[in-house]
Amino acid sequence: MTTLALITGATGGIGSAIAHKLAGQGYSLILHGRSQTKLNKLLQELCGSHHSISADISKPLMCEKLIDDAFKIGTVSLLVNNAGVSHFANFTSSDIDEKQTTHIMQINLIAPILLTKAFISRTKPNFQGTIVNVGSALGSIGFPGFSLYCASKFGLKGLSEALSREYADSHIRVVYFGPRTTNTSINSQQVTDMNKALNSKVDSAEFVASQFMQLLNSNKRRKIVGWPEKLFARINGVLPELVDKAFKQKIKKIKQFANIVTGDIK
Ligand SMILES: NC(=O)c1ccc[n+]([C@@H]2O[C@H](COP(=O)([O-])OP(=O)(O)OC[C@H]3O[C@@H](n4cnc5c(N)ncnc54)[C@H](OP(=O)(O)O)[C@@H]3O)[C@@H](O)[C@H]2O)c1
Repeated sequence: MTTLALITGATGGIGSAIAHKLAGQGYSLILHGRSQTKLNKLLQELCGSHHSISADISKPLMCEKLIDDAFKIGTVSLLVNNAGVSHFANFTSSDIDEKQTTHIMQINLIAPILLTKAFISRTKPNFQGTIVNVGSALGSIGFPGFSLYCASKFGLKGLSEALSREYADSHIRVVYFGPRTTNTSINSQQVTDMNKALNSKVDSAEFVASQFMQLLNSNKRRKIVGWPEKLFARINGVLPELVDKAFKQKIKKIKQFANIVTGDIK
C-alpha cells in the first residue's frame, strides 16, 4: 500500500527536493505551497500520481483546513512541516517589529503546532503516523542577526522533543530535522554574502533531502545536518560559553551584513 504524505512548503528548495525523493520511494504526495502555478509545475516534474493544495499558513484558520482538505484525499500518514521563512537583521533595526515577529512565529512555529495537533487528532488508535518538523541548525545555536528565526526554530525543536517523548508509547513518531545553510531562495543576498565572508559551508537542497530520507528511514528522532554544525549544536547545549567565544571573533563581520535592512515579508 502506498503511503500518503503531506509536505508543506513543497514548492521551495528543500521541500521540492524532499518531494522528489519521497516520490522516488513510492510515496503518494500532497504538495502544499501558496502558488498553484508552482505546485502545478512540481506535479508535472514528479513521477507518479500526486495532489496539491494551496494555502497561506500565515493565517491560523488555514492550518486546520489544510489538514481537513488533505484527509479528504486519503489517510495521511506522514506530515512534513517544512514551510518556513527566514529573517536576518540587527535586533534594534526598524525591520523587527510586531508584524514581522508575528509573521515569523506564525509560519515557523504556530503553523507546525496547529498542523501537528490537527493531524494527530485525525489519527485512530494503532495508527502509524510520522511528523517531521524541519527546523534548522539555528534551532540549536543562537546566531547573531537571526534572533527571530532562532526563537522560532528553538521553539520548534522544543515542541518536537516534548511531543516525541509524549507519544513514545504510541504509534505516532515525531522527528526533528535541522539542516544547516542550504542553497535556496530563503537566504537573502546579504546572508549569502555573509556566509561567503565567514567561509560557512552551504549544502545543496538535494543533499539535504537525502539526509532527510536517511532520518525518515531510521529509527532516530533527531538529526542536525553537516559538520561542524552537528558538533557545535551539541557543544552549545553543554558548554555555550565556548560557542560565545567563537561568535565574539566573528561578530564585527556578521553585524556589517545584518545592518542592511531589507524589511520584506514574503
Ligand atoms: N535554506 C536554508 O538555508 C535552510 C537552512 C536550515 C533550515 N531551513 C528550513 O527549511 C525549510 C524550507 O526552506 P527552504 O530553504 O526550502 O526555503 P524556500 O525555498 O524559501 O521555501 C519555503 C517554502 O515555504 C513556503 N511558505 C512560505 N511562506 C508561506 C506561507 N505564508 N504559507 C504557506 N507556505 C509558505 C513557500 O511557499 P511559496 O512558494 O508560496 O513562497 C515555500 O514553499 C524552512 O523551514 C527553513 O527554515 C532552510
